[in-house]
Amino acid sequence: MISTHWRTPHQPSDRDLRLLDILARQAADLLERTIGEETLRAREQELDRTCTQLLKIEEQQRLAEARLLKLNETLEQRVSERTAKLMQAEEKLRQSQKMEAVGQLTGGLAHDFNNLVAGISGALELLERRIGQGRLNDIDKYVVAAQSAAKRAGSLTHRLLAFSRQQTLDARPTDINALMYGMIELIQRTVGPGIQIETRAAADLWPAFVDASQLENALLNLCINARDAMPDAGRINLETANQWFDEAAAQALDIPPGQYLCLSVSDTGQGMSPEIMAHVFEPFFTTKPIGQGTGLGLSMIYGFAQQSGGQVRIRSKVGEGTSVTIYLPRHHGRVLLEEPTLEKPESAATRHNETVLLVDDEPTVRMLLADTLGDLGYTVIEAADSAAGLKLLRSDIHIDLLITDVGLPGGMNGRQMADAGSAHRPSLKTLFITGYAQSADLISGQQPPGMRVLTKPFAVETLESRVRELLAMR
Ligand SMILES: Nc1ncnc2c1ncn2[C@@H]1O[C@H](COP(=O)(O)OP(=O)(O)OP(=O)(O)O)[C@@H](O)[C@H]1O
Ligand SMILES: [Mg+2]
Repeated sequence: MISTHWRTPHQPSDRDLRLLDILARQAADLLERTIGEETLRAREQELDRTCTQLLKIEEQQRLAEARLLKLNETLEQRVSERTAKLMQAEEKLRQSQKMEAVGQLTGGLAHDFNNLVAGISGALELLERRIGQGRLNDIDKYVVAAQSAAKRAGSLTHRLLAFSRQQTLDARPTDINALMYGMIELIQRTVGPGIQIETRAAADLWPAFVDASQLENALLNLCINARDAMPDAGRINLETANQWFDEAAAQALDIPPGQYLCLSVSDTGQGMSPEIMAHVFEPFFTTKPIGQGTGLGLSMIYGFAQQSGGQVRIRSKVGEGTSVTIYLPRHHGRVLLEEPTLEKPESAATRHNETVLLVDDEPTVRMLLADTLGDLGYTVIEAADSAAGLKLLRSDIHIDLLITDVGLPGGMNGRQMADAGSAHRPSLKTLFITGYAQSADLISGQQPPGMRVLTKPFAVETLESRVRELLAMR
């Protein structure tokens, strides 16, 4: 540039030099800017490329995510299909197990009832024939045979109702230790001298609210099972204890948490395999030879314990004995002493001139009841349903006692009818007669005084004493 401007050698003046300097600086600036812009452009391009690449990656990622989602969806679908299939199979299995149990129950029932009905109807037929022929001596045995078969039928239905938690329970505050000690003699006599009985009673056992005679029955049944498991002698241990179950422990027992007392029967017998244990609570399940066990003992205890708000559990190992424990909820309150038994009233058909209103829709039962009460000297007015019964209760006819079935046609059950009638007759005493506890529920718990329950079937003496007790109440 200098050579362009100056042809001859030239001594640049200060101004020239300054100019040159400015020019050089501008040139450098220009150069720098140009280089800067160039790099910027290059960077921009690079950025563009990176962006495009990023977009591509993002797109790929989106695609991958979509694919994953789809996979997930189908996975869920596959899992739920699989689960549904599994549940179906499980339901089928449950159903078939249920059918098997129902089949076993029906078969067992049919078998037992056929035998009992054969006994009753055979005896009645012979009775009729002998009476027709005027051969009256020796007919007692037919009466006895029919009665004993009928009693067994009664106890069979009772045990079934117990299993289905529908028996009518007469629960009262009960001292289980006293109940246990009171049974020892009977148990020892039943199991025989070869079996030693030991007891361990908790010192301050809580009271239970339970039907004492059913519990005695359960205890005896457990001891008979223990005896049968120890053909060559052994030991039965009876034990009571207080127990407090927290949430987890109670859940394991399938009962509400709280305080329970337990009664255990342990033996040193042959024990049970897990396969047998899985079935022992099923009605009619028995491993005993025909005629030696009905298979109703444990099923009855199971239903009874649950109906009483408790539970029953078994621990057993082959060769190591068995232990059955009944858990019952603690009763907060004192155990009342046995009511003094009423004086034995005069014998039948003496002084009764009381009037009984009898309401039952079953003609045969009504006829038998009416005849029995008539024989006992009572005047009986009959009604076949609740509407007719209530009409009589609301009338001015003199009535001393109402005896009514609980399940009744006519718009009300026996309890409702009695309640409706009590508006007109506040002090009327009532005896409910119930076949099973669809009705027992209606009259469960503590009955008010002047109200009693009698479960069908019952002996005439039981009816008689219940009626007398009620009528003797003031
Ligand atoms: N203590 C025990 N030791 C060993 N096995 C027992 C014991 N208790 C019950 N079992 C088994 O459980 C089965 C069912 O018992 P459960 O009491 O229900 O009926 P059962 O004793 O056979 O007949 P039932 O009591 O009606 O006369 C018994 O047949 C037996 O196999
Ligand atoms: Mg038994």
